[in-house]
Amino acid sequence: MLFERPKSGERAVLVHLDFHSEDEREDSNEFVQLVTSAGGDPVDFITGSRKRPDARLFIGTGKLEEIRESLVANDGELVLFNHALSPSQERNIERELQCRVLDRTGLILDIFAQRANTHEGKLQVELAQLQHMSTRLVRGWTHLERQKGGIGLRGPGESQLETDRRLLRARITAIQARLQKVRRQREQARRARRRAEIPALSLVGYTNAGKSTLFNVLTASKVYVADQLFATLDPTVRRIKVSDVGPVILADTVGFIRHLPHKLVEAFRATLEEAVMADLLIHVIDCSDPERQDNVKQVLGVLAEIGAGDIPVLEVYNKTDLVNAEPRIDRNDQGKPVRVWLSARDSRGLALFYQALSEILGNEICETSITLSAGQGRLRGLLYDLAAVMDERLGDDGSQYLQLRLLESDWQRFLSNESVSEASLNSMRQVSTQEEFC
Ligand code: GTP
Repeated sequence: MLFERPKSGERAVLVHLDFHSEDEREDSNEFVQLVTSAGGDPVDFITGSRKRPDARLFIGTGKLEEIRESLVANDGELVLFNHALSPSQERNIERELQCRVLDRTGLILDIFAQRANTHEGKLQVELAQLQHMSTRLVRGWTHLERQKGGIGLRGPGESQLETDRRLLRARITAIQARLQKVRRQREQARRARRRAEIPALSLVGYTNAGKSTLFNVLTASKVYVADQLFATLDPTVRRIKVSDVGPVILADTVGFIRHLPHKLVEAFRATLEEAVMADLLIHVIDCSDPERQDNVKQVLGVLAEIGAGDIPVLEVYNKTDLVNAEPRIDRNDQGKPVRVWLSARDSRGLALFYQALSEILGNEICETSITLSAGQGRLRGLLYDLAAVMDERLGDDGSQYLQLRLLESDWQRFLSNESVSEASLNSMRQVSTQEEFC
C-alpha cells in the first residue's frame, strides 16, 4: 500500500496563524470541528500572527519551538495546520519536529476518505489523494534515495523513485478511466430522469448548515446526520412529491467550505455535478451562524466556478429554533418566494417550504406556439404527452403549427432536451401564473 491514511483518535497539536491578508484568513472554530470530524483528538491549540508565511517553514522559529514543547508536554503524535502548506514546508517542519505534519488540504482529504461510501466517491477521494500526495511523495523519496544510495541498495536499472512514480501515474490513469465510466453511467441515469420530465432539485450549502437533516425530513429517510463537518460526501438522490408539481428529484450534496483547495473542487466535481444539472438549487443556510453572509459568498463562489451560477436559487434559512424566529416566506418585488425560514430539526416550516416549491415550480404557465416539419413527429408526440397542445393546423408543405399551453418549467426542459431550431419557434410567448387561468 503506497499511502496510509492517519489512524483516527490521534493526539493532535493544532496550529492556526492569523495573517493580515483577507485571502489567508481561516476560521479557527471551524478548524477544531474539522479535526474532530477527522477523528483527531485536539490536545493543544497554538495560535499566532504573522505578516506573511515564512518561505521555508511557514512559521517562525519561535513558533516552531512552541510546537516542539507542546508535542512533548501533551504527548502529541501529529501536528495539524489550518493552512495550505507547500510540500517543502511540510517536509521541513516534519524534519525539524520529527513528527508527522498535515496541512488543511490533507486534513479535508482525510475526512473525505473516511466518509466516501459509494464506488464513485471512493474513486474520487483516491484520485485526489494520489494527486495531492504525489508532489509530496516525490520530494520525500528524493530525500530517502539520497540516504539509501549505498551498497546493495541501488536498483538494477530503474531507481525505486522512478518505479514508484510510474506506478503512481498508472494508478492515476486507471482511476481516471474508471471515473469516466462511472460518470457516463450517472449521466445516462440523469438523462432518463430528464426524459421523464421530472424537475431536479439540489440541496447545496455550507457544511453543517443542515442539508442532510432537511433532506431526511423531506424524504423521511435516514441519511447519515452528525454534528461533524462533511457528514455527506456522496450525493443522495430521492424522489419527493410536491402538490401542483408532482414528483421532483431531490439531491443532497457535499457541504461547501471556505478555501476549499481548487484541486479538490476539481476532484469532487462529479459529486457537485448534481448541483450543476439542477432546475432549482435549495441553498441551505444556518441562520444562527454569525459567519452566514460570508458562508453564502463562499458557496456562491464555488457554484459559479462549477458552472451552476445561473441556476435559480431558493434560500432556506434553517435553524430558526436557535434564533427564535417564526417560519415564514420572504418574497421579492414580484411576489416570488426567495427565502423560506424553517427549522429542519423540529420539522417546523416544512409546509411553507413545499408551498414555495409549488409556487416556483408549478405555477408558471407558458402560452406559445411551434411549427414542426413533417419529420418531427416525435416532438409532436412529446408535446401531446405533456398535454400541451391546444390547437393544431396543417400547412400546405406538410408542416404542423401547434398552439401550446404548458408549464413554463416543462417548456424550458423541452427546449433544453430537444434540438428545436429558433426558426420553428413563434416569437409571441406569454408567461403567467396558473391562478390567472383558473
Ligand atoms: P455536511 O454534510 O457537513 O455538509 O452538513 P449538513 O449541511 O448536511 O448538516 P447536517 O444535516 O448534518 O446538520 C448539522 C448539524 O446541525 C447537526 O447536528 C444537526 O442536528 C443540526 N441541525 C440541523 N438542522 C437543525 C435545526 O433546524 N435546528 C438546530 N438547532 N439544529 C439543526
